[in-house]
Amino acid sequence: MIGGNGTIGRTVVKRFSENHEVIIAGRKSGDVTVDISDSESISNMFQNTGKLDAIVNIAGDAKWDKFDKLSEEDFYIGIKSKMMGQVNIVRLGRAFLNPGGSITLTTGILADEPVDMTTSAAMVNGAIQSFVKAVALELENGIRVNVVSADLVEDAYEKYKDYFPGNTPVAMTKVVDGYVKSVEGRINGEIIRIRA
Ligand SMILES: NC(=O)c1ccc[n+]([C@@H]2O[C@H](COP(=O)([O-])OP(=O)(O)OC[C@H]3O[C@@H](n4cnc5c(N)ncnc54)[C@H](OP(=O)(O)O)[C@@H]3O)[C@@H](O)[C@H]2O)c1
Repeated sequence: MIGGNGTIGRTVVKRFSENHEVIIAGRKSGDVTVDISDSESISNMFQNTGKLDAIVNIAGDAKWDKFDKLSEEDFYIGIKSKMMGQVNIVRLGRAFLNPGGSITLTTGILADEPVDMTTSAAMVNGAIQSFVKAVALELENGIRVNVVSADLVEDAYEKYKDYFPGNTPVAMTKVVDGYVKSVEGRINGEIIRIRA
């Protein structure tokens, strides 16, 4: 569970810990450390964990600012982290999955309903959703891949509400259920949209 100590991650970890052994990964904390914007770091993480039944990523950054202010370098923050970070998790992680395993990525409502200052964040979310649909056609050994796209979540409402005027926050139980659906269900190549 990459990002397992984050706002969404910690609640998802709590649920999965009820009936699974969970390994938490994060940049600064966790059972293993990883920076998903660095493919060598992702490889090292999987060498450390060894074989897994499921990989869940709930981490990834992108720079928020007015389109006028975003430089080319600013766009590369999201491209390297939230976009290629998640592509590399699939690219490098599939070899560490047991047959029938799954990979679950994370995007968000911005792919469908961008708000002010999200040209970069919305773009990488959309890219990952298209990537998931395409890569699901090619993964072998019964390996499935899905992406969870939540609206503003209940636990982040106070922090982000001013950026999302009128968005009704989604209950954490609903968000967690999206990840459970991906990992424990049989769906493949799906964008699991979680809305209030
Ligand atoms: N919050 C929302 O309402 C919402 C809604 C829909 C989608 N999302 C998406 O869900 C994801 C998680 O959101 P959140 O609100 O839970 O974020 P958060 O509270 O900031 O948590 C992110 C977690 O990911 C880890 N992380 C961040 N960058 C990383 C990197 N480069 N490599 C490895 N680990 C990294 C962090 O660990 P360290 O602190 O150790 O780095 C932290 O544990 C984001 O992609 C966000 O866009 C959020």
